[in-house]
Amino acid sequence: MSLCKICNNDLETVISFGEMPISNRFVSDLTEDEFLYDLSIGFCPECFMVQLEECVDPAMMFNEDYAYFSSISKAMEDHFEEMASEIIDIVSEKPSPFVLELGCNDGIMLKHVAAHGIPHLGIEPSANVAASARQKGVHVLEDFFNATSASEIKNRYGQADVICGANVMCHIEDINSVFQGVSVLLKPEGVFFFEDPYLADIIKKASFDQIYDEHVYYFSGLAVSELAKRHGLQLVNMVPQEVHGGSMRYYLSKGSENRVTKNIGALLAVEKGLNLHSLKGYVSFKKRVDSISSDFKNTLLKIRAEGKRIAAYGATSKSTTFLIYSKVGVDLIDYVSDTTPTKIGKYTPGTHIPVKSHEHFILDNPPYTVLLAWNHKREILEKEKEYREKGGKFITFFPEVTIE
Ligand code: SAH
Ligand code: TMP
Ligand code: ZN
Repeated sequence: MSLCKICNNDLETVISFGEMPISNRFVSDLTEDEFLYDLSIGFCPECFMVQLEECVDPAMMFNEDYAYFSSISKAMEDHFEEMASEIIDIVSEKPSPFVLELGCNDGIMLKHVAAHGIPHLGIEPSANVAASARQKGVHVLEDFFNATSASEIKNRYGQADVICGANVMCHIEDINSVFQGVSVLLKPEGVFFFEDPYLADIIKKASFDQIYDEHVYYFSGLAVSELAKRHGLQLVNMVPQEVHGGSMRYYLSKGSENRVTKNIGALLAVEKGLNLHSLKGYVSFKKRVDSISSDFKNTLLKIRAEGKRIAAYGATSKSTTFLIYSKVGVDLIDYVSDTTPTKIGKYTPGTHIPVKSHEHFILDNPPYTVLLAWNHKREILEKEKEYREKGGKFITFFPEVTIE
C-alpha cells in the first residue's frame, strides 16, 4: 500500500492503468527500450488529496529534452496574457515589486511582465524551454523549485508580491517542500496563486488522459484548503478556468484572518456533492473509464473495417495513458499531426505512432482524425474548417465517443 505524500496516511487505490512509459518522452530510436513505471492513483481519506501511487524521478521528465512548449497554442497565449495583466494590476502600486513564476516554461506568461519592466524571475528546470524564455527577455533560474531553492531566491531577490504557477504545482512530488518555500518567499500581504486541471472536471468527464507521470496531484478545493492550512496559508478564492479541459485557479494568502471570498463556499459545496472528500466519489470512475476506452477502440475498429484510414491530431503527453489503456496503436492510427518541431519525426511513447507535421496532415487529408488535443478543440476546429468542409471528421471521446 502507498502512503500519502502530504500526510503519510494510507492511500486507497482509485484506478490502476498498468505499465506506462514517460508521457512526454517521444521516441527517436525504436530499437531502444523505454523506461516503464506502474501508473495508478490513490485517494487519501485524511487530507483528501488524489495522487499518483508511484512517482517518476523528476530529472527523467524535466530536462533539456522536455517536449512541451507552452506557446504552441494561440488560446494558451491569450490565457496567459490575461494572467499577466492580472499580475501587472496587482503589483502596479507596489513600491518594490517582485513576481516569481514556478515552471515558466518558454516564457509564455512572464514575457508580458518583463515587457512592463517589472522585476521578476521564472524558475524552470527544463533547459530547452528555459532558453526559449530567456530569448523573450525573461529572467530564468534553471532549477527545481523547493524549500532549498526558495531560500536561495529569497537571499538574492527578497520576498515576492506574487508567486504563481500554472500546470506545475501538480507536477511536484514534494509539495510540502514547495509550500514551505512559498511560505518563506511570500511577502506578508503577498498573493500565491496556481492553476491545474481540476479533479471535479476529471471525475465528471472521466477524462482519465489527465492521469500520467507528470501529474502527481489531482487537486480539489477541499484538498488544497487542507494542504494550505498545514503551511500557515489560507485558500481564499477559486476561479474556474476553461483551459486543459477544465482547470481551477486557487488563490492563497498568508495568515489566518478570514479573507475567504464567497466563491469558495459554493465551489466546495459542489465538491462535497460529488463526494470528492470520500472514497464514494471515485467508485464509478473506473467503470466509466473502461467504457470510454472500449467504445473508442470499437469505433476505430469499425472505421478500419470499412477500409478507411485514421490519423490523430496533437501528440499530447496525456494521450499516452489514453491510447495505451485503450490498446490503440499504429495498427489503427497511421500518424499523429503536431506543430511542435521537436516532436515531428519521432514516435509517440509506448504506442510508437509516427509524429508528422501539420503540412503532412493537410496534404494527406485523412477521412477520420482522433482529436487527442481535445482541450484545444475550439481553436483546432476553427483552424481545420476546410478539412471538415471537405468531409473530414474528428473523433472526440470525453465524456463519450463522438464523431463530428
Ligand atoms: N506554466 C506552463 C508550463 C507547464 S508544463 C504552462 O502552463 O503552459 C510544467 C513546467 O513545469 C515544465 O516546463 C517543467 O519543466 C516545470 N517544472 C517541473 N517541476 C518543476 C519544479 N519543481 N519547479 C519549477 N518548475 C518545474
Ligand atoms: P496539450 O494538450 O498538453 O496542450 O498539448 C497540445 C499538443 O497539441 C502539442 O503537442 C501541440 C499540439 N497542437 C497542434 O499540433 N496543433 C494545434 O493547433 C494545437 C492547439 C496544438
Ligand atoms: Zn493525506
